[in-house]
Amino acid sequence: MISSTPPKMQPIAAVIFGATGDLTHRKIVPAFYHLAKNNLLPEGSAIIGFARRPKSDEEFRKDLGEALQNFSHTKPVDEAVWNKLAQHIYYFQGELDDAEAYKKLSEKLQGLPEAKEINGNYLFYLATAPEFFGPAAENLKAAGLASASDGVKRRLIVEKPFGHDLASAKELNKTLQASFAERDIFRIDHYLGKETVQNLIYFRFGNSIFEPIWNRLYIDHVQITVAEQMGVESRGGYYDHAGATRDMMQNHMFQLFTLTSMEAPASLDAESIRDEKVKVLRSIPTPSLEFLQKNTVRAQYGGGFINGKPVPAYRQEEKVAQNSMTETFAAARFEIDNWRWHGVPFYLRTGKALATSFTEINIIFKRPPGVLFSAASDEQLRRNTLRIRIQPNEGISVKFNAKVPGEPRSEPVDMAFTYKGGFDHYLPEAYERLIVDAMVGESTLFTRSDEVEEAWRLIDAVKSAWAKQGGRDLPLYACGSMGPVESDQLLLKDNRYWIRPKELAT
Ligand code: BG6
Repeated sequence: MISSTPPKMQPIAAVIFGATGDLTHRKIVPAFYHLAKNNLLPEGSAIIGFARRPKSDEEFRKDLGEALQNFSHTKPVDEAVWNKLAQHIYYFQGELDDAEAYKKLSEKLQGLPEAKEINGNYLFYLATAPEFFGPAAENLKAAGLASASDGVKRRLIVEKPFGHDLASAKELNKTLQASFAERDIFRIDHYLGKETVQNLIYFRFGNSIFEPIWNRLYIDHVQITVAEQMGVESRGGYYDHAGATRDMMQNHMFQLFTLTSMEAPASLDAESIRDEKVKVLRSIPTPSLEFLQKNTVRAQYGGGFINGKPVPAYRQEEKVAQNSMTETFAAARFEIDNWRWHGVPFYLRTGKALATSFTEINIIFKRPPGVLFSAASDEQLRRNTLRIRIQPNEGISVKFNAKVPGEPRSEPVDMAFTYKGGFDHYLPEAYERLIVDAMVGESTLFTRSDEVEEAWRLIDAVKSAWAKQGGRDLPLYACGSMGPVESDQLLLKDNRYWIRPKELAT
């Protein structure tokens, strides 16, 4: 259920695998700190960091405390809250593929000073390289740590990437489900933790003015953009095997896509919402090779300047192959073959090292019939557009035509809502919400196995179309641009154009 009040929470032991990694320092521990600060971490809970390097509890706490100073999204850090939390953070040295280590982990958990309050309720967080997801789940099971029974909760959070294609995702689902029940597996897609993404359901189904026109009769097309200004920086080793399609489209962008296009769920419970998202994906037939060759674009950044600073070409980035064919930009047109959307294109694009960072969904409505304003050119009578700004400057605006005072013509104007202006609330980071939900077993904001597999079916088709093209058609784009010209052509050939983000609009 998408609500802001978590059900009654019990103390837990959260075991983070990959505890010395980037994600733990940047996101997971700052999220626990904010939960503690907002009284959302029950007293008696403990955090155990599992990693390979030798380290004492004290050293581990110190590292995390320093990272918190850098990565906390609220400043200054509340030292009293952190010091209190740090006393319940422990370090455990072990190898992820060593079954013995998990038996010792089990003893460690039972011997914790907080063990009585924790009462056997464990949350395992796989923040490791993906090749360890399967072995860790199997070892947890072998050590008796995976079985939930008699009200004792054993839950597993899995970070992305969840497989690298349909076959590997199926295999991973099978392995995890052999150790944990599907309802206890929480596959993270951190976009679902964003308030603005959750709001898509409230916005669509909590208002009566949008849903009646949310279909092929009124909507011309939909655009979804996730643009990032940052290049791959230090993540080349991972990214060069993933690329924009696997890193962003299969997961984050498909979440935005399905939440924008799904039918109203029977209720707000996890399964009803997830059923609807899967149904939309199932309504997208696997596109043919010919369709994909015409309707997808891949490209790589070729160097340039962003904010006056030089940015290297992707192939010059650390840990990236010098002849890499990995796409850092991807755009595609998808079509949903159901009653609501038949004939309405959804254009998705994402890229790194672009002019600006923003995530937006734009719903572009059909033109009004030109009977009254036949003298007005198409340019003057613009299509109504609903802009849903996921980040930054979160908000929603509607563009409509208004008469220019004193002149017999119209101009597009904006009616806008911003989160900053509309609410005086603390906006939690995605990970805060996701960790709380996993702690209480609330699955709505996590991806289900069938959803992951359906998304891979489509992405596999795109990737195999590209593989058939070999080295052809991998254009380069300048850093600081909005991608290759082929991306503009993808829409231009349909007589459309990408809506410019506000900060670039002239
Ligand atoms: C991650 C990707 O999942 O999402 C990154 O691996 C990307 O490449 C990031 O930068 C974007 O997340 P956000 O929340 O900054 O939009």
